[in-house]
Amino acid sequence: MADTITITDDRTGKTVTVPIQGGVFSSSALRQLDPSLFMYDPAYLSTAACASAITYLDGDNGILRYRGIPIEQLAEKSTFLEVAYLLLNGNLPDKAQLDTWTRDVTLHTMIHENMRKRFVDGFHYDAHPMGMFISATAALGTFYDDAKDIFDKTSLDKQIIRLIAKVPTIAAMCYRFSQGLPFVSPNNSLSYGENFLNMMFRIGDDYKVDPVLARAMDILFILHADHEQNCGTTAMRVVSSANSDPYTATAAAASALYGPLHGGANEAVVRMLTEIGSIENVPAFIEDVKNGSGRLMGFGHRVYKNFDPRATIIKKTAYEVFEVTGKNPLLDIALKLEEVALNDDYFKSRKLYPNVDFYSGLIYQALGFPVDMFTVLFAIPRTVGWLAHMQELLGDKEQKISRPRQWYIGEDERNYVDIAKR
Ligand code: CMC
Repeated sequence: MADTITITDDRTGKTVTVPIQGGVFSSSALRQLDPSLFMYDPAYLSTAACASAITYLDGDNGILRYRGIPIEQLAEKSTFLEVAYLLLNGNLPDKAQLDTWTRDVTLHTMIHENMRKRFVDGFHYDAHPMGMFISATAALGTFYDDAKDIFDKTSLDKQIIRLIAKVPTIAAMCYRFSQGLPFVSPNNSLSYGENFLNMMFRIGDDYKVDPVLARAMDILFILHADHEQNCGTTAMRVVSSANSDPYTATAAAASALYGPLHGGANEAVVRMLTEIGSIENVPAFIEDVKNGSGRLMGFGHRVYKNFDPRATIIKKTAYEVFEVTGKNPLLDIALKLEEVALNDDYFKSRKLYPNVDFYSGLIYQALGFPVDMFTVLFAIPRTVGWLAHMQELLGDKEQKISRPRQWYIGEDERNYVDIAKR
């Protein structure tokens, strides 16, 4: 059987044969049939907009690999900073490379005092932390003259380190501001996850980060570091294709992540569980979802149509966290919802399973994060994935500025009518 696809334009009888590689064929070959012909694909359901070597995802079989390494192995054996190096550089670091990378990131965790004093302090007291995070990330770029030198490798590498190092500091700063608490400076003797928890929750001198909770934070960061061409990463690539600087591109990607159908889902899950209130209300809630009045948040995925491997790891991590913090009272409702949905034809026939967000919110809540911070917790590690995609895009000779076409369905030409005659 030939690995080609043949397309015939029935209007002209012209034919074009295109090779299929890795399940993909180049749609530009269609232009050979008729240069004015475009493919209509809302929401990119059938379109691969780039070639990427970063993350492999097989939704039917629940497989997720970073640079070829299964997510289960990384969650068990690696650390977030090692995974960040892997995603950005293609291979795991050796000891010396990891030490240098860890030191570089750790030494860039501080942010300019004016970021807090002049910028963050200007927000309204109850501003949503994700709105603050997005704006602060974009503003951060204005502090660096070299932010725009994206084709100078040394400069781009420096911006990447700065962003990865500073997003936890920005996130914690936004949280402390929203609580009216004094800002806690980064502590360079702590690991990435420990330092973040310390900046978030330290009050007085006796705060010590529990190692189980720090490890859970690291695992959550690993699981969220990349997920190939989702809405936020696509935003990152589209904005980066205009050669915008990494800070504004990251802010654009974070804006996409903010939406409740994307990274905002974990926040929506906890709000949903709180609204359901008790196990007895689960069946009625499921009936409401089936009748179209709402969605079961944390269920379903555009790509995973069997199970989300991240959800399996997160469920296990949740129990480890609850050993330390005590059980989240919403857990029983979540378990009941999962049980009812997994046995219901509506969800089975549509291949709807728990996704990464179904249990992550429960862990975040048990760790002490307010619901408003959940999407920020997703944005911190995803910054690594976004930057890996930006870096890949800038080195890809086939890429140009993103500029899709449209199918115009509006009015034909018509004359302007004076306002008195309308
Ligand atoms: N609850 C109830 N029905 C659902 C759900 C849900 N969570 N998700 C999908 N459906 C139904 C949908 O109504 C449709 O039914 P029908 O065929 O009768 O019209 C069918 O399942 C197919 O859904 P779809 O909306 O065409 O699927 P999609 O691929 O466009 O959407 C999704 C994927 C994740 C946006 C969607 O499943 C959803 O809204 N889930 C809830 C939000 C959520 O948990 N998002 C986090 C995604 S994972 C994190 C990330 O990677 O960003």
